[in-house]
Amino acid sequence: MAETTARPILVTGGSGQLASALAAAATVPVCLRGRPAFDFDRPESIGAAFHQANPWLVVNAAAYTAVDAAEQDEAAAYRANRDGPAELARLCEAAGMPLIHVSTDYVFDGAKGEPYVETDQVAPQCVYGASKLAGEKAVLEACKRAVVLRTSWVYAPTGRNFVRTMLTLGRTRDRLTVVADQKGCPTTAPDLAAAILEIAARIAASGWQDAYAGVFHAAGSGWTTWHGLASAVFAEAARHGAAVPRVDPITTADYPTPAKRPADSRLDCTKLATVFGVRLPEWRPSLARTIDAIFAAG
Ligand SMILES: NC(=O)c1ccc[n+]([C@@H]2O[C@H](COP(=O)([O-])OP(=O)(O)OC[C@H]3O[C@@H](n4cnc5c(N)ncnc54)[C@H](OP(=O)(O)O)[C@@H]3O)[C@@H](O)[C@H]2O)c1
Repeated sequence: MAETTARPILVTGGSGQLASALAAAATVPVCLRGRPAFDFDRPESIGAAFHQANPWLVVNAAAYTAVDAAEQDEAAAYRANRDGPAELARLCEAAGMPLIHVSTDYVFDGAKGEPYVETDQVAPQCVYGASKLAGEKAVLEACKRAVVLRTSWVYAPTGRNFVRTMLTLGRTRDRLTVVADQKGCPTTAPDLAAAILEIAARIAASGWQDAYAGVFHAAGSGWTTWHGLASAVFAEAARHGAAVPRVDPITTADYPTPAKRPADSRLDCTKLATVFGVRLPEWRPSLARTIDAIFAAG
């Protein structure tokens, strides 16, 4: 693979949380593409960006991620989460190239009661989850060298995410209510980016292996609830002198949203560790690092 890895990794997703983290962490050449140059709503831009980048591997971190808005915007969600990734997968297949495609815990209904493994029954509860599941299937059908990584509860020191929203609310309110009956695995974009770069390095070093194809769960280790995550955010922020609001637990029924979320979408990531030797860090120290980065940036 030495001659191919002189070429860049094409990362889609522009200024998104994961794409930005990938570009920041990479020690190998990366070609980062976002809108308007790379736009799933303009299918011709997909092939143009692909051929211009001349990559050896593609990481698709672009997606329609507005979970509630997707309920009213189904066509756009499917264009970005199924049709565009399918086209990328066809391009990779034609070039005999690996594709790492990112998906979501929202493909599950959350009723299992213990962490999901890759072979568990999927049953998305919202348009976003259904469109991402359709994307997984399309990518795996179109490309023999596709690695599909399901992740969850992604946040970063920048961008729009739950952690930053909590910090913003905590500056102006002395009391918050947060849903306490949804469980999941918080994942930082830098941790997921590091895992993806390790997978890419493994593929480059070993050459493509059949065991690499298929679905893998790739989330932060351990789990909590949204209420647990919010409480931990303020505990970490207090180290930096931030005011700590009272965080009261509420139920999902107390906080209705347009899109239904899984009650328990914890992911078992054993397969990723077994096949690629990659395990994402525990969520709590990663949260502490993220809060430190947010306060360091001012
Ligand atoms: N955020 C989460 O909690 C979460 C949870 C589970 C799974 N995931 C998955 O993780 C991956 C990365 O998510 P993220 O958190 O980095 O999301 P993000 O911050 O919302 O970034 C997604 C990026 O996708 C690009 N995009 C959106 N619509 C597009 C379109 N029609 N054509 C081309 N690009 C488009 C946008 O980039 P530009 O506008 O800059 O071009 C956007 O910045 C996605 O596959 C997502 O489904 C995320």
